[in-house]
Amino acid sequence: MNYPAGPIGVFDSGYGGLTIFQQLVKQLPQYDYIYLGDNARNPYGIRSYDVVYDFTLECVRHLFDMGCNLVILACNTASAKALRTIQQRDLPELNGSRRVLGVIRPTTEIIGSYSDSGHVGIFATQGTVNSESYPIEIQKFFPDVQIYQEACPMWVPLVENNEHNTSGAEYFIQQHVNYLLERAPLIDTILLACTHYPLLAHQIARFLPHYVQLISQGEIVARSLVSYLTKHPEMEARCTRYGTRKYYTTESTDDFDTKARIFLKGHVEAAHLQL
Ligand code: DGL
Repeated sequence: MNYPAGPIGVFDSGYGGLTIFQQLVKQLPQYDYIYLGDNARNPYGIRSYDVVYDFTLECVRHLFDMGCNLVILACNTASAKALRTIQQRDLPELNGSRRVLGVIRPTTEIIGSYSDSGHVGIFATQGTVNSESYPIEIQKFFPDVQIYQEACPMWVPLVENNEHNTSGAEYFIQQHVNYLLERAPLIDTILLACTHYPLLAHQIARFLPHYVQLISQGEIVARSLVSYLTKHPEMEARCTRYGTRKYYTTESTDDFDTKARIFLKGHVEAAHLQL
């Protein structure tokens, strides 16, 4: 069954997906968007496969109920742990004509081309690192590239609690940068494979040698969506174009509005979604 055209849904465990959302809106401003942050159950990065899958599917269903035909999982942890099962098992049952896309595939298709040394570092949540999704997928596109992963469990809570510009944050940032570079001194490219981490980019860069470039996913994912919609006119026609943006959070809306402003640098007025 084909539902009427609707907004594009963007989902994350909290605020991090706003770094992707911002680039989607910049490159594709004509569409309507609904952003859903599951702040009440954040962080996802330390949770088991089953829990991340259940939470993600529940939120995807809510976005479908709000009329979205296309949902982007703007969360690496959800993309690593839930996307494939949702695409292969749940979508055919829920509605075969709706689509859910993630952030890992578009990133792995291109990340190897940024590196001259062929040594690429990945900062991500424990869940994303344990899933091995990045090394497995990158090997398919760039078999000669060496991948070195570093899980940074403290970084998401620092961002979610707006503590990311403090000296406490500096300690945890430097610690993980050092761990990674000690293991892999030939790295010349590091991917921020968690959508929260771009907010830490300036502090991370302070501890890196000048020749190491830091890559965030927002622009990459947005370019990939442009290309997806061009290649899938049937889905493009099912995305409404009034330029509206709506925000939902599973936590307090006051908190969301205040913190989302840090990400988007503009006024945000979220509605509460009761799970
Ligand atoms: N922002 C999410 C990601 O890209 C994870 C944050 C969390 O741990 O909930 O992986």
